Amino acid sequence: MKSAVTTKEQLRERIKELTCLYEVSTIIVQADYDYIEDSLKAIAFSLKKALQFPEKVEVYINIPGLKVLSGTIKKTTCSIWSDIPVFNIIKGKISAHIVSKDTSEHYFLEEEQALIDNISLKIGSLLERIEIKNNALLLKRQMERADRLAVLGELTAGIAHELNTPLANILGFAELLASDFKANTAASEDLNKIIQNAIFSREVVKKLMFFSCEMPQEMTMVNLVPNIKSAINLLDATFRKQQVKYIVKIEEEELWLRADTVQLTQIIFNLTMNAIYFSPKDSLVMIEAFQINNEIILKITDQGPGIPENLHDKLFQPFFTTKPTGEGSGLGLSVVHGIVSSHKGSITAKSNNKKGTIFEVRLPK
Ligand SMILES: Nc1ncnc2c1ncn2[C@@H]1O[C@H](COP(=O)(O)OP(=O)(O)O)[C@@H](O)[C@H]1O
Ligand SMILES: [Mg+2]
Repeated sequence: MKSAVTTKEQLRERIKELTCLYEVSTIIVQADYDYIEDSLKAIAFSLKKALQFPEKVEVYINIPGLKVLSGTIKKTTCSIWSDIPVFNIIKGKISAHIVSKDTSEHYFLEEEQALIDNISLKIGSLLERIEIKNNALLLKRQMERADRLAVLGELTAGIAHELNTPLANILGFAELLASDFKANTAASEDLNKIIQNAIFSREVVKKLMFFSCEMPQEMTMVNLVPNIKSAINLLDATFRKQQVKYIVKIEEEELWLRADTVQLTQIIFNLTMNAIYFSPKDSLVMIEAFQINNEIILKITDQGPGIPENLHDKLFQPFFTTKPTGEGSGLGLSVVHGIVSSHKGSITAKSNNKKGTIFEVRLPK
């Protein structure tokens, strides 16, 4: 690297540098956050133009998920570069390369290193602004989803109420008829089907009411550890029947939080039932609980097929199910979501297509 020698040369370089910085600032102000590739290309060309030997230099910008080049770089003889920091972490790099064989005639100036450093900071601040905007968008989407769930909750609560009485009647009268028709096997079988279906529907209604928080909530101080152990004991038979192994990993003897015991059990049940359902034979389901600061964390991990990214938004919506008709109501996770929200906690599903799914519930103590 050399420094510009004559005053005239220095002045010329300084003007080019300032023009370039001005251009880059303008490009960044006008950047469309959804198409930053165009902005980065413009920056690359602006820098190329500002360098001493524009026709012998190519600029390369590399940020996560995007690579931008001002031209082809086959062979580099000499280069300068600068790291692009985003919130103080290096996330990318901008470099300029001399693509001529002759390094004695073509070289970089110290001023050019300063220019590229300056531009990398500007790109970094653009990336920071994009990240801030995306986070705000994510938060907005989450809030909208919560709103939607709340509205659906109210609607379904209404429907559930309306269905409760006629369902109880169907069940009651079918049972009466069944005792009258004991002698008639064909009729008894049919009546039994009616009864079984009415019971299934009653369960759905119960879940709906649960989900919409129609069930009264009784908050007390609860130790989660025995709660998990007794819930998993009850599920032991189901694990065996499906030939799925499990481990409960809790290092602490007591994990206290303010919660409704019945609803806590419901969370553990619904998540574990899903994990079992989606687990292949002989695979492992892990149930973990621990605390970090003011939160109790419950984690259920399976080795099933995982959940495709595009379904993550729908998982907690009432009636969303990928199970065959008659097997799933699609209410389990929305019930869990309702309970977790009413406890001011949060729930997330992380998935790994190879290793399965992790459901993580965080509840304040
Ligand atoms: N552990 C899991 N592994 C894979 N998919 C899951 C898991 N848990 C839930 N899902 C997906 O979420 C959907 C909704 O679950 P849920 O609300 O419990 O309803 P249901 O169990 O009746 O289908 C399931 O049908 C399935 O597609
Ligand atoms: Mg379920």
